[in-house]
Amino acid sequence: VRRPLIVANWKMHLVRAQAVRLAEEVAGRVEDVRGPEIILCPPATWLEAVGRVIAGTSLRLGAQTMHWEAQGAYTGEISPPMLVDAGCRAVILGHSERRIYFGETDETVGLKVKAAFAHGLLPIPCVGERFEEREAGDTDGIIERQVGSVVRAATGGAGGLAIAYEPVWAIGTGLTATSVEANRVAAMIRRLIREAEGGPAADAVRVLYGGSVKPDNTREFLREPDIDGALVGGASLDAGAFSEIVRAAAE
Ligand code: PGA
Repeated sequence: VRRPLIVANWKMHLVRAQAVRLAEEVAGRVEDVRGPEIILCPPATWLEAVGRVIAGTSLRLGAQTMHWEAQGAYTGEISPPMLVDAGCRAVILGHSERRIYFGETDETVGLKVKAAFAHGLLPIPCVGERFEEREAGDTDGIIERQVGSVVRAATGGAGGLAIAYEPVWAIGTGLTATSVEANRVAAMIRRLIREAEGGPAADAVRVLYGGSVKPDNTREFLREPDIDGALVGGASLDAGAFSEIVRAAAE
């Protein structure tokens, strides 16, 4: 049995006071919820401040990206040991916004997955097709390619990943994949892992859906057998909406 996982991706939103207040509100609202693992991913500058707020609660801290080297001349980047030191337990990797606007590739995402494992961080790599790719019937090929590089990077540890399937056209648009289609892709991701590493890894890996997840559609996705949680962007900035999503995952 896989533990449901709900990840809040705050992206490049909120100044310090807002981030601290949101963390306090979320912590207060989900205090009594048992079951799902909940990870908040604030902007890097607020990791420590948010970490202080959620210390002693069941909420965990995650980052939105990182470099793969432990240190070096990489101006502006943040390394895995720095995230660990700031209190992170997890890291989102290769989000489509990183791939589209910042040139991340399957190769660099693979290096980051390896580095996350090496430093004891839960890697949350993101995969997903763009609108044109879906229209052209390329969805499965894109997912196979992206998941393939993540699984190779995991070198036998794919069961320890939380892979987020986020159709790019569903992110921040209010559009979602149907739950049946999202589950079809999630099942395909699990099959790729079974083929690469066998049944136990496929049974252990958690596959999340992301893309316009809201309180009123969460149940529909989480009811699907191969969807184990959600990566939440916009709705994670609202403590009420996010805590409802968490509650739906606990049912
Ligand atoms: P959204 O973002 O929930 O605002 O669509 C999801 C994501 O980008 O992770």
